[in-house]
Amino acid sequence: MTEPFELLRTWDGLATVLRFEPHSGAWIVIALHDRTLGSPTGGSRMKSYPSLSDAIVDAQRLAAGMTAKWAGIDRPYGGGKAVLMIPRPLDAATRRSLLTGYRDVLRGLEGGFRTGPDMGTTPEDMAFLAQACASVMGIHPETGKPLDPGPFTAQGVLAGIRAAVAHAFDGATLSGRRILIQGVGDVGEPLARGLAEAGATVLISDLDPARSEKLAQMIGGRTVDPEAVFTMECDVYAPCAVGATVDEASVAEMRCAIVAGSANNQLATDRDAERLAARGILYAPDWVINAGGALAYADLRAGTTDTDQLLSDVDRTIGAAVEAVFHTAHEEGITSLEAARRRAERRLSQARK
Ligand code: PHE
Repeated sequence: MTEPFELLRTWDGLATVLRFEPHSGAWIVIALHDRTLGSPTGGSRMKSYPSLSDAIVDAQRLAAGMTAKWAGIDRPYGGGKAVLMIPRPLDAATRRSLLTGYRDVLRGLEGGFRTGPDMGTTPEDMAFLAQACASVMGIHPETGKPLDPGPFTAQGVLAGIRAAVAHAFDGATLSGRRILIQGVGDVGEPLARGLAEAGATVLISDLDPARSEKLAQMIGGRTVDPEAVFTMECDVYAPCAVGATVDEASVAEMRCAIVAGSANNQLATDRDAERLAARGILYAPDWVINAGGALAYADLRAGTTDTDQLLSDVDRTIGAAVEAVFHTAHEEGITSLEAARRRAERRLSQARK
């Protein structure tokens, strides 16, 4: 692994902010990627990593993904992401002290980075930060409560899956389609419910078997062993947990027609987009299909406070964005990843002019 300073030296983003929080032994890493469309804004992830370099790489990649995410939905924010690298699971008091230290950094940046929840942090953590810091997204202006982005992200993924099914098969109906969800957490669970309601056959896999069994029973789905995810025959594989599950080995095994899920950084490398295309598997670029949470936060901040209104905005916007990407890819004979990149790049270069 490259050493941290080398990662800072060679990155194409704006800056990487580092702070060590001594009480918890955590590193706070904030990657500020781009501010062409607005202030760098992205979630705060709390996780353990093998080394500081791994945490920096994750923050930098996710921050670049946020630049593309905001551009893809045309909202006035820039790309950024925070990683709170914890040495071990933290007890409540230690977690508090880390969040307090993090809040001080956010305050010091004076709106130069805005944030919300991501893997390992909760809306309640965000409410705590927001008590003394104005840089938190998703706090409802009327109730003061933090908005869970999960259901909004899930709504966007549902719309994206619908668009993908319409593109790959005749007709957009999800009824009878076999859809495998990998990871039923904050996004995977509401997605599973939405798909079941739409008449899909939902296959559920989670590292926690109790969790997948409980949900499968509730919605009338089936569970799939985590080991068997890639070899499972299905119409849609929806990665909704960790990133980098799509790689050379998994693509070779896949027996699905579509990859469309909520995880960030689903592809291990960009070449995997070509590998999927070569196998005739339709891929919904992650930062397009998973932008529903970001979109809801942006629209909440712009004054839309009604939940149903936010959900229907997400449904329409993400569905249309995913559809446009597939359309361009098809017309121009390029991968969907390349089509999504060009779309985001077009928005950014317009703004630079
Ligand atoms: N972490 C989520 C994402 O990556 C939601 C989020 C969006 C949080 C924007 C903060 C800001 O999309």
